[in-house]
Amino acid sequence: MKKYILSVASFLFIFSMPFIFSKIFIAYKEPFNFLENPLVWFVIVGFGLIMFLKEALSNLIVKKANELMPENYIKVQSFISFLFLFLTPFVLAHVIDSHKNILVWIGIVTFGLVVFVKEFFIITGLNKIEELEMLKAGLNPADVDKWAGFKSFIQRWTKSKPIEQESEIALDHNYDGIRELNNSLPPWWIYMFYASIIFAVVYLLRFHAFDGPNQETEYHLAVAQANKEINKYKQSTPGILDIENVTLLTEKSDLNRGKAVFKLNCASCHMTGGGGGIGPNLTDEYWILGGGIKNVFTTISNGGRDGKGMVAWKKVLKPKDIQKVASYILSLQGTRPDKPKVKEGELWQEEVENVN
Ligand code: HEC
Repeated sequence: MKKYILSVASFLFIFSMPFIFSKIFIAYKEPFNFLENPLVWFVIVGFGLIMFLKEALSNLIVKKANELMPENYIKVQSFISFLFLFLTPFVLAHVIDSHKNILVWIGIVTFGLVVFVKEFFIITGLNKIEELEMLKAGLNPADVDKWAGFKSFIQRWTKSKPIEQESEIALDHNYDGIRELNNSLPPWWIYMFYASIIFAVVYLLRFHAFDGPNQETEYHLAVAQANKEINKYKQSTPGILDIENVTLLTEKSDLNRGKAVFKLNCASCHMTGGGGGIGPNLTDEYWILGGGIKNVFTTISNGGRDGKGMVAWKKVLKPKDIQKVASYILSLQGTRPDKPKVKEGELWQEEVENVN
């Protein structure tokens, strides 16, 4: 019984390692930055040690259970198995997030299978050793109830009476032949009940006596934390573009790229010269959603008002391209396209943007 629990725990432990490492790698984005954290070292060395001990143990078992195997063979297989189980999690951790790649799935499933097969062999070996020991002690393995431990465990946690002894707890009334047993409450249930009482006391004190955070404060805390992380990410990732730091580009190559993007995606509605068609005129000083690079960048990224036909282009275009096409549009200011659409929106002046 114990060995099965141990085996399941060991399987879960080894199999969860790739996922844990993957989280660590994500938390420390740059390659090998994670080595700066002593906790990570602790996890890696600890994992290696446990794997080593496991190999040493299963080596003993294999040797005992099968004295016919050549000694070196066992050592070599143990070494290979150690390397495999210790290194694979690191490899898997790197690729685990690309679920779409079938190779990754095959890798994870194979890893799980190998760990499983190993556990299976260990259990078989242990069983064999137990049998040998029984024989030595003069017992016939077939007569020994292997599940005795499990049965007494169940018995202890349910306190159930075997059918033969039911008469002892039968109540002495009889409803049309239906009789009632006076079973005692099963301990697994009673302990859960006690645990829920303890939980309720702790909960009551924490949230009603000592002012624990309610859902709303928890929500605000989570949002604040998320914002902090976003800002940290933005600061640590140069080149990220958003309304805060987007600037007007004037380089010829950037404007050319913007023009190409415009022709391909936008000209159908805004016309080749930007004079407007389904969409408004982009060459005049009147803007529905605000002029200036920041507003134009935002409009292109997030789209216009609902139902007007201007979609959020951030799903299609990269931020860099949005910046370029926005700069290109602004470079059209004051040009005179064919058949321009009449002005829409408000007159936009740069000063207004500065005040904002
Ligand atoms: C399906 C037609 C359509 C396409 C394609 C389209 N737009 Fe628009 N665009 C519109 C409409 C309609 C509006 C007005 C939105 C509103 O009124 O809210 C608009 C508004 C705008 C505005 C704001 C104008 C203002 O006056 O504030 C900008 C800037 C803009 N588009 C740029 C682009 C860019 C750049 C592209 C290509 C990446 C593009 N649009 C593609 C239809 C389109």
